[in-house]
Amino acid sequence: MPAIVLLGAQWGDEGKGKATDLLGDKVKYVVRYQGGNNAGHTVVIGDQKYALHLLPSGILTPSCIPVIGNGVVIDPAVLLEEIRGLNDRGVDTSQLKISTNAHLITPYHRTIDKVSERFLGKAKIGTTGRGIGPAYADKINRIGIRVQDLFDPSILRQKIEGALRDKNQVLIKVFNRKGLEVDEVLREYLDYAEILRPYVADTSLLLNKALEKGENVLLEGSQGTLLDVDHGTYPFVTSSNPTAGGASTGSGIGPTRISRVIGIVKAYTTRVGSGPFPTELFDEDGEKLRSIGGEFGTTTGRSRRCGWYDAPIARYAVRINGLTDFFLTKLDVLTGWEKIPVCVAYDVDGTRVEELPASQSDFHHAQPIYEYLPGWSEPISQARELKDLPANARAYVKFLEEVSGAQ
Ligand code: IMO
Ligand code: MG
Repeated sequence: MPAIVLLGAQWGDEGKGKATDLLGDKVKYVVRYQGGNNAGHTVVIGDQKYALHLLPSGILTPSCIPVIGNGVVIDPAVLLEEIRGLNDRGVDTSQLKISTNAHLITPYHRTIDKVSERFLGKAKIGTTGRGIGPAYADKINRIGIRVQDLFDPSILRQKIEGALRDKNQVLIKVFNRKGLEVDEVLREYLDYAEILRPYVADTSLLLNKALEKGENVLLEGSQGTLLDVDHGTYPFVTSSNPTAGGASTGSGIGPTRISRVIGIVKAYTTRVGSGPFPTELFDEDGEKLRSIGGEFGTTTGRSRRCGWYDAPIARYAVRINGLTDFFLTKLDVLTGWEKIPVCVAYDVDGTRVEELPASQSDFHHAQPIYEYLPGWSEPISQARELKDLPANARAYVKFLEEVSGAQ
């Protein structure tokens, strides 16, 4: 059996946790392949609500083996806290596997993330402040610290020394902060080593063996297509590849193994942080979407920017990820509107544009061209199948399918 990728087709927070959880029973492994504790999945099971940041949502399905792949950046303090929090609520985490090649977030990454945002002032990206960007920067710069380094104290010391040589200069001289002590960071990270040891594995080998045996592997993206460092609204993006290509690189599974790529879309659009967002609403409708949809971040608690469904974005997600399926979430939030606008194209300086503009400046002033669909007033949260929906809700779904290129 093949590997399946499940990812956000918009700007994140599409309800990926829910989708993973629904598929959870059918898969043996749930793998995170990028990002870190910038993610926030809220999963509700019965009357229990879980907020996960770093652990794959498969951790809540007892038959599942959760895997943190090589493409993830791990803040060990956060990971241990999340593991302890789940254990305290009776969730078994002993099956967790962590790649030897995943990179570690350190205290200096967190500090640099926060102070560099402050220095950007109005041009800030609106990061989650978790040290994600600086940790990936060190990875690409080849000065990062990996999980496997935790188990070789002399290598770990050398790496921390090497990193702090520059980082302390930057912290002290550029940002006017205190420098960090090598011994202190080393001690902290060696303590993590002992706790993390039982979880660490060659996850690429493990997953490929599982695929050989015919087991199902679900690769779970964090963030979303438009937050991808290559294909998103750069520089207002995260520093990794949530798009389908990243699933292969970030897990050590070859692309030929992947047979399905499922894109999660919300029935409207949200975004956290700065950057262009053509269908964004600044009026009562935006407020209404935010309050009915509970659009407040799981990670930072920030209120999410809200707007109508944007079909050019969905079509772009099909193109970039080779989507084979769409998974629509939060349709019930739209109950009660008389008519619902759907963006089908943009007006860029007087020209109708069907695709996402290749130039960011064009995207910044793209105006949505809307078609209006009749709404419905019946509550639909109990609907389980398409036929349970009122006719207008069904027509809305059908229309989204058509304009998003789902057929
Ligand atoms: P989930 O997994 C929505 C956004 C941040 C910021 C940008 C860069 O819950 O969908 P970073 O800290 O990653 O360097 O911040 O990316 N961002 C998210 N937005 N959902 C997320 O995750 C996000 N993770 C990061 O708001 O604009
Ligand atoms: Mg989230």
